[in-house]
Amino acid sequence: MSKLFTPTDFKGITLKNRIVMSPMCMYSCEREDGKVTPFHFTHYASRAVGQTGLVMVEATAVQPEGRISANDLGIWDEGHTAGLKQLNDEIHAYGAKTAIQLAHAGRKAQLESDIYAPSSVRFNQDFKEPLEMTINDIRETIDSFKNAARRAKEAGFDIIEIHGAHGYLINQFLSPLTNLRQDDFGGSRKNRYRFLEEIIASVKAEWDGPIFVRISSNEYDEKGNSMDDILYFTERMKEDGVDLVDCSSGGVIPASIPTYPGYQLNRCERIKKETDIATGAVGLITTGIQAEEILQNDRADLVFIGRSLLRNPYWPKAAADELGTTLDAPVQYKRGWK
Ligand code: FNR
Repeated sequence: MSKLFTPTDFKGITLKNRIVMSPMCMYSCEREDGKVTPFHFTHYASRAVGQTGLVMVEATAVQPEGRISANDLGIWDEGHTAGLKQLNDEIHAYGAKTAIQLAHAGRKAQLESDIYAPSSVRFNQDFKEPLEMTINDIRETIDSFKNAARRAKEAGFDIIEIHGAHGYLINQFLSPLTNLRQDDFGGSRKNRYRFLEEIIASVKAEWDGPIFVRISSNEYDEKGNSMDDILYFTERMKEDGVDLVDCSSGGVIPASIPTYPGYQLNRCERIKKETDIATGAVGLITTGIQAEEILQNDRADLVFIGRSLLRNPYWPKAAADELGTTLDAPVQYKRGWK
């Protein structure tokens, strides 16, 4: 039996297979109100029809100023809950479980309004200079993750992923490249972790389901977080009750990333082996055989599929065919599924 198609469980949430639709921003809220649109229903439900086990909704902003663009999805207001609930109902109807990635872009927000970051350092010339967050700004932002978690629960999501990767706000606090603060939220790695620590705690105040955190496990700069720092953060996340670390990389500073099949796997595997936490592998995983190898060799617990699932909503079927596994068909497709 293939491991890719063996169910697995996180705090009582059973995923029918190990395939996760990796969070991917669609920048499709045309009215700039953060609300779900007909596109989102079709886009996410079609991956559920295609038998993806966990459909993760894209980076969704916990504050309007935390959007990457004005067209991002949002969860900063009670008015967002109804659309997200309808989206959950659509995805659940086809047997997938759902997750939402809670996000704040920090200095990587490309908006007309003021933007915020741990320190007033711009990403590059194409980005605005952010305002350094006051302690009050920090408290409000931590609180907005709590409110977002409550809305995610009301909307019926099964899993929350906190976006701590790709140089967005949480990653800006974690990294010495972007966090130049001298207060309790900057300096030592213990202090740089504090923002994420408090966000996890505030999410847990409203949410007792599984929590995943996406991190950039490699910053591609020798002055950035080392593997030792990453292992420290992972240990702390484990103590704080995080169920899975989703191991991505990059985005903290402009840096070129060498990409090849499984380019982020090394660190994912080390995190799993050295801290004994469940991990998600992501990055140029394109075939069923590759995904199966990762799982069978205990290099990760879930595989996150991004661009391959954009190109083919039936990627799970192609992977099952490759592995010689029978995959349940959506009832309507049974006669044409073989
Ligand atoms: C992404 N990615 C991404 N990552 C994330 O954590 N939150 C997000 O909202 C997005 N948005 C996004 C949009 C688009 C169009 C792409 C292609 C990618 C990164 C994505 O989840 C994944 O980590 C990478 O694409 C690498 O995996 P693949 O595509 O090689 O399978």
